[in-house]
Amino acid sequence: MSTHLKVFKNARLVLADEVINGSLSVNTGGMIEAIETPTNVDGHDCEGDFLLPGLIELHTDHLETHYAPRPKVRWNTVSAVQAHDAQIACAGITTVFDALRVGMDEDADLRYSDMRALADAIETGQREHRLRADHFIHLRCEVSAPDVLNAYKVFEDDNSIRLISLMDHTPGQRQFVSLDAYKTYYQGKKGFTDAQMDEFIRRRQERASGLAPDNRRKLSDIAQGKGIAIASHDDATIGHVEEAIALNTKIAEFPTTVEAAKASHEAGMAVLMGAPNVVRGGSHSGNVSAGELAEAGYLDVLSSDYVPVSLIQAAFQLADEIEAIDLPQAAAMVTSSPARAIGLDDRGSLTPGLRADLIQVKLVGSVPIVRGVWREGRRVA
Ligand SMILES: [Fe+2]
Repeated sequence: MSTHLKVFKNARLVLADEVINGSLSVNTGGMIEAIETPTNVDGHDCEGDFLLPGLIELHTDHLETHYAPRPKVRWNTVSAVQAHDAQIACAGITTVFDALRVGMDEDADLRYSDMRALADAIETGQREHRLRADHFIHLRCEVSAPDVLNAYKVFEDDNSIRLISLMDHTPGQRQFVSLDAYKTYYQGKKGFTDAQMDEFIRRRQERASGLAPDNRRKLSDIAQGKGIAIASHDDATIGHVEEAIALNTKIAEFPTTVEAAKASHEAGMAVLMGAPNVVRGGSHSGNVSAGELAEAGYLDVLSSDYVPVSLIQAAFQLADEIEAIDLPQAAAMVTSSPARAIGLDDRGSLTPGLRADLIQVKLVGSVPIVRGVWREGRRVA
């Protein structure tokens, strides 16, 4: 037997289709070496806690909060990335796709120069080994925005971009089929009067009608040429799903109806929903809930979206609340399924030969505690 760097013993190992009591060994290369049932070996004592693969997060908005903690305040970008990374890692996430936006509202607080600066800081953090989790970039492209193609050019040479989502937040469709929900969201955010709000909606709809389809096609051509995975966003209709299939989309982010989720799942796309939606028990924009899709068997991947800790919490909650979903299946939604959807085949399950990205989790009541995090066998949180 080769020399072990580390053994995790007395663990409840969450495998692909069962939970077993046992130990897991990691070799000096940071890969999982073996899984064994006897626990009377020397090593790190997990004290009966769960041991799961490190979580894989495809869509977190959380970095911006650290960079712009108050309106007009900008934090040092490398420091902001490190603070974000610390929170991500402590939430049990060992692989993260940080979402950066291109195609901005004309009155947005952040510009794409800010996004460029954050991308540089993520790449610096990775290069200088400053970060606990493994970071990639998810570029969120608002296809209804006039500047989206120019803004994309700023990111053209970034190898860390592995995922592009094509979003269209024009009012009256997709996420905002209900104009009332749109008005509540934007009037709350921007303090518009009713008249200003109506004018804003009119301009948005006019702006998008010509641009969106063309931008969507051009960006998906670029992504396919570079081998970057494409995600659709807020699909509501069969027409949206057919368009996504035609663009070779891998991930269906936040479908807003059961119909769109079902069609996406059956077409082989990974249906991704927000973990906060599971934890809160519904969508903040009033669309179909993640729990409903899980119940129907159309949910493949969870994402922490705007609350990093929601990912581990939602996995345990789904396993607890939904009869047809056990812990290995719920865990797959935050580990092996996102890994497969994005094409990272070296991680995402407790399998010999894969990266030893591991988290030790204790469940107390309904809220899990992440007690230890290892990336390629090295403790990072
Ligand atoms: Fe959206």
